[in-house]
This record gives sequence, structure tokens and C-alpha cells, in this order.
Amino acid sequence: MKKTIKFSINGTKVQQEVLPAYLLIDVIRDGLGLRGTKPGCLEGECGACTVLIDGLAVNSCLYLAVNADGKEVTTIEGLISGPDFSLDPVQQAMVDFGAVQCGFCTSGMVMSIKGFYDECVSAQIQPNREQIKKGLEGNLCRCTGYKKIIDAVESLFEEA
Ligand code: FES
Ligand code: FES
Repeated sequence: MKKTIKFSINGTKVQQEVLPAYLLIDVIRDGLGLRGTKPGCLEGECGACTVLIDGLAVNSCLYLAVNADGKEVTTIEGLISGPDFSLDPVQQAMVDFGAVQCGFCTSGMVMSIKGFYDECVSAQIQPNREQIKKGLEGNLCRCTGYKKIIDAVESLFEEA
């Protein structure tokens, strides 16, 4: 039997009818039409589907939609702000460091970086390069562009 769930997505309150087995990635992409969240492996291995739930990075391909009830979900679309579509500093750093190749991993990578960065800032941690790699180990880039991605993340902490 379907259940009504209410949650916030990118600051907007929404309501969806979901079956118990529905996955959050499907509600985001098909129910709400937000296609920036990418389906990759669909088994929790690649991180392409990463979104933030109450500020924490989560694989939306493994997350039951019913568990999003009452929560705040942020997708890659939610990082753009203002009438001039300003990029989030994480997105800007990825651009500045040339850390995007085919782009398939990028939205999930950006969301994981955002979650990691915000967690570090709130805990007043200045991670070193190894800690950054560890923080992002759930995200795979099949173009193997890791060096520039890590450079981009390091720059965020240098500016903080
Ligand atoms: S699509 Fe979710 S982890 Fe790969
Ligand atoms: S940029 Fe192609 S998979 Fe990462």
C-alpha cells in the first residue's frame, strides 16, 4: 500500500505517494524530475547518486524513500543559488581546477564533497590530503580524475 511522505527538497516542501520499496533516487528523478542525481551502479558502490539528507551524504540508490519523510534533502540542483544561478563554492572549485571530465561522477562527487566540507567546518577540522581521500572514498571517477578533484577540495580548506 502506498504511503504519503512529506519532505523538503532543495528548500521546497514536497509530498509524494510511495510504495515501501521505492528508492529515493527514483522519487527524486522520476517523481520530482530532478535528473542531476545520477544512477550508476545502483548498489552503493560508485557514489554517483549521492544526495544530502539533513546535511549528510547518502547513496540515494540504497535509501528507501519512506525514510525521507520529514527530512531535508539536497540534490545537485539545490547548490545553485540566486537569479544569476551562482555556483556553490564546491562547484566553482571543481570548475577552477578542471576536475570534471565526462561528468558522470560529478554531481555525486560534488554532493559528497559538500557534505564532507560542511562536516569538517562544523567540527573545525582542517583535513590533510589523505583525510580528504578517505572522506571521498565512496565516490568513484571512472575517468580517474582524482588528483584534480582532491586539489579542488584542498583549495576549499585553504580559503576557509
Ligand atoms: S548509483 Fe548509487 S552508489 Fe552507485
Ligand atoms: S569525470 Fe568521468 S567519471 Fe568522473
